[in-house]
Amino acid sequence: MEQTQSEKKKVVLSLVQPSGVPTLGNYLGAFKNWAGMAKDYDCLFGVADLHAITVRQVPAELRAHTLEVFALLLALGLDPQRETIFVQSQVPEHAQLAWILNCYTQFGEASRMTQFKEKSQSHADNVNVGLFTYPALMAADILLYQADFVPVGEDQKQHLELTRNIAERMNGVYENLFTMPEPFIGKAGARVMSLTEPEKKMSKSDPNQKSFVSLLDTPDVIAKKIKSAVTDSEARVYFSAEKPGVSNLMGIYSCCTGRSYDEIEAEFAGKGYGDFKAAVAEAVVEELRPVQERYKKHLADKAYLLECAAKGAEQASRRASKTLGKAMKKIGFLQL
Ligand code: TYM
Repeated sequence: MEQTQSEKKKVVLSLVQPSGVPTLGNYLGAFKNWAGMAKDYDCLFGVADLHAITVRQVPAELRAHTLEVFALLLALGLDPQRETIFVQSQVPEHAQLAWILNCYTQFGEASRMTQFKEKSQSHADNVNVGLFTYPALMAADILLYQADFVPVGEDQKQHLELTRNIAERMNGVYENLFTMPEPFIGKAGARVMSLTEPEKKMSKSDPNQKSFVSLLDTPDVIAKKIKSAVTDSEARVYFSAEKPGVSNLMGIYSCCTGRSYDEIEAEFAGKGYGDFKAAVAEAVVEELRPVQERYKKHLADKAYLLECAAKGAEQASRRASKTLGKAMKKIGFLQL
């Protein structure tokens, strides 16, 4: 992924849903990489509020969460002067291209999406068509900007594969329409697991508050949640598929401190889970502290946030309209 100054910067894009306060899973699986890539790539990051309404939302809460997640993106250290940071619903090209991509997505391939299957079970009373066509909207987000890399957690890999299939299919019919995007999935942190059920992914929509660390939890709450994380009875710190709870905490610790699993095993040799969990909690608190401080500052200035969102939407729309126009022309729509 190295690139020299003389090359045109590769395009990086990723979005997050404003369906609550993001978790440590979102942070380690995605956000940390976003912040790390910002200087070297041509980056666009966004709040996926159109995706969020595939599940019922209270309007005032959706508005509040959208602004909060936008503030959190700035708090990661992303710079709206350098990166394009936008809210998806403020860039109409996303919905427009999504319709087109729907017509190039097969019913069978959309039916195979794990997230669709899971969400139709957890929201059985509202299996709407938007939930089904969600990946086509996600493909539109990515393809509109001709993104080269998409930094995401492992749970989004399948959607990225579908995006590539749609792009390949359309490029086969209408030459050179889309850049083929590649997922960028970090080694550690790609799949942060629930603290209470370590076989399950950590998720902000989990009804059990103890199962996840929210990015805005206080140090005390973080320490309590990590202390009560499910481990096992062996009381020895090492990485193993048979020890999902401890291995998950090791993954979190490794991401926050940069230490390898071997180094972590050596550090806690002869020590019990109490010492280990205290160290993990401290590392998480220190990792999140600057983000939380900047978040509070940004959230207090709503006018600035709205101004940044408006600027980001304008920049994003300017770029997105080029790809949309190209696609519409190639497909055969009359031009204005
Ligand atoms: P969302 O909002 O669920 O999550 C945002 C990012 O966080 C990652 N993530 C995790 N990584 C590691 N461990 C976890 N437990 C964990 N939970 C979440 C996700 O993989 C994601 O990278 N459909 C997307 C949002 C989206 C998008 C896009 C992403 C919409 N359009 C275009 C990339 C490109 C979603 O629901 O992510």
